[in-house]
Amino acid sequence: MTMREKLELLQKRRAEAELGGGADRVKAQHEKGKMTARERLDVLLDPGTFVELDRFVTHRATDFGLADEKYLGDGVVTGSGRIDGRLVYVFAQDFTVFGGSLSEAHAEKICKVMDLAVRNGAPVIGLNDSGGARIQEGVVSLGGYAAIFLRNTLASGVVPQISAVLGPCAGGAVYSPAITDFVCMVRGVSYMFVTGPNVVKTVTHEEVDFEGLGGADVHGGTSGVAHFVHDSELECLTGIRTLLGYLPSNNLDDPPLRPSADPTDRRDEELLDVVPDSPTKPYDMHDVIRRVVDDGAFLEVHRDYAGNLLVGFARMGGRPIGVVANQPAVLAGVLDINASAKGARFIRFCDAFNVPLVTFEDVPGFLPGVAQEHGGIIKHGAKLLYAYCEATVPKLTVITRKAYGGAYDVMNSKHIRGDYNVAWPTAEIAVMGPKGAVEILYKGEEASEEREAEYREKFAHPYLAAGRGYVDDIIDPRDTRPRLIGALAALATKRDRNPPKKHGNIPL
Ligand code: HXC
Repeated sequence: MTMREKLELLQKRRAEAELGGGADRVKAQHEKGKMTARERLDVLLDPGTFVELDRFVTHRATDFGLADEKYLGDGVVTGSGRIDGRLVYVFAQDFTVFGGSLSEAHAEKICKVMDLAVRNGAPVIGLNDSGGARIQEGVVSLGGYAAIFLRNTLASGVVPQISAVLGPCAGGAVYSPAITDFVCMVRGVSYMFVTGPNVVKTVTHEEVDFEGLGGADVHGGTSGVAHFVHDSELECLTGIRTLLGYLPSNNLDDPPLRPSADPTDRRDEELLDVVPDSPTKPYDMHDVIRRVVDDGAFLEVHRDYAGNLLVGFARMGGRPIGVVANQPAVLAGVLDINASAKGARFIRFCDAFNVPLVTFEDVPGFLPGVAQEHGGIIKHGAKLLYAYCEATVPKLTVITRKAYGGAYDVMNSKHIRGDYNVAWPTAEIAVMGPKGAVEILYKGEEASEEREAEYREKFAHPYLAAGRGYVDDIIDPRDTRPRLIGALAALATKRDRNPPKKHGNIPL
């Protein structure tokens, strides 16, 4: 064969690989309202930057009549590309080839890009759409999964790992996304469960469909497995691009700066009126966050889960920050089991990846009740405390109103290495709120408004804490943005480390 003929053959083989499981199956994928693996990568990556690896790989199974049924690429498209010019490694499972099921060869391709990502310090993004373990390969496929789980774990805290679930994700396969840092799902397209509706019916006699058992809203709002829930694949993939803009490429890099036209010395008059005069009235902490951060942009993580604690990314003076905020508008901003786990996971991500933490605090305490106690609020609340304590990134706190009881300690107090802690004049920092305190102090006596007022005057303000240096200053709320930006700039060179150890033992 001449060189030209060989090149023609190569072109033919490359085109064959790009067709996945064939035109009919691509059509079926589109009819389900889903994109193909390659169409997804086109949306995810900067145009023309995808560099494919292993497109000629095929499976090696010889059992169950599969020997001759081979598709180039074996059901997963892998390689590297760029997002806003920055290197990322990707894999996209191709449902048109054996339902995107995972064979030995398919797993090896995924492991290869994960190894490259860790070696080169770049994020890994996995687009999952798979019928799970390739049935014809049996235990070899299970071994392939285990090899991926190991890499997910070893890469955790080294490079950001993001999973989009864009189809089925069932059985043990769910544990790869579950180990990664962020899970994104799409309504009506994604579902995740350990055992499907049929098994559930047999074992527990519960009748439930795919969506109700493990759809996007279930995992975004009830289980907390999904961090982001979207209405379309397009929105999901562009959402991943936005998320990456806040993250460093690896644990040795700083998050990328993005200068903004929002002045760093901007004061905000409206902040004077956000906190209501009555301490029992709710308000929306989003209003505080948006007025303080660059351009009002707040990328909320876990938006529909444990709404009493808000977490997400923003920028201040162009620097990415992780925001953790009590939300007085939901359950008065109390800390409960779900909020504690949500906060702890987010804080640990930010700490691993050098993202400074800014905490907005208005918390009446931990949620009382039998359900919370029996559910383990002690160990779950301890996660949040542990995460704040061990974090060595710059840690800033603004107490807008309540900082009561143990929750005062937990929410990045000075005592657990808060670097810059300030209070608004509306702050109330004490062991408990006036009503509860008076009931205990004057037990058996009739509650009186005077006693509550007396307690309030004595304790429900920030001056006792400021007198001890537990808050660094009491500030005019309008100055919150310039004050935080100044502190973040000063803390950019912060050095702090925990004692050497193999690893800590966070309560689980
Ligand atoms: C091999 C598979 C497959 C699998 C699907 N296919 N799942 N091939 N191994 N696990 C193939 C089908 O034969 C079919 O091939 C094509 O993919 C599309 O599948 P359909 O069933 O036609 O699609 P759909 O109706 O959309 O249903 C999708 C599905 C269903 C819900 C995922 O296919 C399904 O239930 N598959 C089995 C899921 C499962 O139980 N997997 C094992 C889970 S346990 P053709 O040739 O017709 O296109 C597991 C363990 C992981 O994964 C362990 C980790 C530790």
